[in-house]
Amino acid sequence: MYHRFDAIVVGAGGAGLMAALQLAQHPGIRTAVISKLYPSRSHTGAAQGGIGAALGNHEEDHPEWHTFDTVKGGDYLVDQDAAEVMCREAVESVYELEHFGLPFSRTPEGKIDQRRFGGHTRNFGEAPVRRSCFAADRTGHMILQTLYQQCIKHEVDFYSEYQLLDLIVNDGVCCGIVALNIKDGEVHIFHAKAILFATGGFGRAWKITSNALSNTGDGVMIAARHGVPLEDMEMYQFHPTGVYKLGILLTEGARGEGGILRNDSGERFTERYAPTLLDLAPRDMVSRFIYQEVKEGRGIKGKDYVHLDLTHLGADVVENKLPDLADFVRVYLGIDPVRELIPIQPTAHYAMGGIPTDIDGRVVLNAEEDVMPGFYAAGECACVSVHGANRLGTNSLVDIVVFGRRAGKHMARHIQEVDFTELPPKPDAFSREQLGQLLSRESGESAAEIRQHLQEEMMDKVSVLRTEDKLKAAQKTVAQLKQAYTRVAIQDRQTWYNSELLETMELGYLLDISEITIAGALVRKESRGAHYRDDYPSRDDANFLKHTLVYGTPDGLMVRYKPVKITKFEPKERKY
Ligand code: FUM
Repeated sequence: MYHRFDAIVVGAGGAGLMAALQLAQHPGIRTAVISKLYPSRSHTGAAQGGIGAALGNHEEDHPEWHTFDTVKGGDYLVDQDAAEVMCREAVESVYELEHFGLPFSRTPEGKIDQRRFGGHTRNFGEAPVRRSCFAADRTGHMILQTLYQQCIKHEVDFYSEYQLLDLIVNDGVCCGIVALNIKDGEVHIFHAKAILFATGGFGRAWKITSNALSNTGDGVMIAARHGVPLEDMEMYQFHPTGVYKLGILLTEGARGEGGILRNDSGERFTERYAPTLLDLAPRDMVSRFIYQEVKEGRGIKGKDYVHLDLTHLGADVVENKLPDLADFVRVYLGIDPVRELIPIQPTAHYAMGGIPTDIDGRVVLNAEEDVMPGFYAAGECACVSVHGANRLGTNSLVDIVVFGRRAGKHMARHIQEVDFTELPPKPDAFSREQLGQLLSRESGESAAEIRQHLQEEMMDKVSVLRTEDKLKAAQKTVAQLKQAYTRVAIQDRQTWYNSELLETMELGYLLDISEITIAGALVRKESRGAHYRDDYPSRDDANFLKHTLVYGTPDGLMVRYKPVKITKFEPKERKY
């Protein structure tokens, strides 16, 4: 089936909906949002603790301080021009969300309430600042609902439960996508002048993750198939406080409200590692502190977890400011967080790297920043790069609203300036062949077994602490799993709601993403932010103050580099 719109947005999380909303405010522009989920189930809904903006509702604050924290938190791999834009526009974006109807928590005087989050300070590191604007611990959920309502109001067309299969590019110009209607298995072609990928992250490559089942990097790998390099893929964030063994996120807002991390002897161990910011040092550091405690035998009962202690906060704070956290802990662990300690461990959480873009969301193809006309990306699948080597908590929600908005505005201008590019012959041929191959094999390898092996290997060897030996071993395993994947067979041959088919396709993306993540981690022989190499424990600005770009070529992966944009803040040692 063929459809024609001016703009196609793939992904109905915060970045996609924000872009769609900008487009929909231009009466002549027809916009469709294509998503493999119903919009209200998008992973933005899982973001809990808040959105950072220098409103200064409790103490003085400035976007420039927010920029500094973002750059330092990202271990100076952040493109500072982009961070300046993000932190400046964060303020108007939060007020815009408020005016759209987002029910922020309030101070007694009725202002938007704000709380502390890791790495956020005032006056360039002098003291912590309350910068996270929140709606209890359901901030992402509220952003998603608010933006979805606005999109409905502005008559955006939604194609929900459509799986992205391919990007259509003709002579270097992006002109559409191919998608599968999950309901009946029909292949659809969407022809457009501008296409935005807001397809989210890929935490499902790891065994312990805060990510939804749907976070499998589909858009990232489909872009890579069309010659787009992937930037800084070795920079993958582990959030310190996932529910032990399950990975479910327990918001950093809990520590923002005063929660404390304790080891087996009840010690607040962050005092030894980050004497100023303590439990609210940036996530890469706190995750390493936990690993260190476990490695040195101070995990709870000698095991691989520590405790999050909220017992001193009182029922009022826990029930009113952290209600979802309290529910998760009660439901999944049978623990009352008001009275009992919560077992936690770092959980795979967020991709700092992804599809490289400029500050208007245009996808760039190389270090010279040549763009692919008509192709945009925003949100977690994109790398602007505002998070560098480690994202600060709250900056993911800032990223999606600021750069989703900027991408939508640029797409609207682009659409008014260009004609439709003709589709190439048989634009859906690749997708049909891919589906046919997957559905035709009668017997072979099991996708579930390959996935489980991949997730265990990534967790064991490509997580918080890395070494050359571990990475090489993981590289070998992933190569073997990719071989096995060429023989994968699925049992379900139905055309409608074939979740086995979809999950098998998603596994293919996860395998490719893991291979690229490992390749980036192997060439970066230094420690920076979330990428910590036990065998190269120092940051090496002389050799590695640069972004990695990994290209897929017929001869294998090719690594190139791109300079980091430094405007105001010269790299310094990170101390907290
Ligand atoms: O901890 C949290 O609430 C997560 C927020 C984020 O990833 O920004």
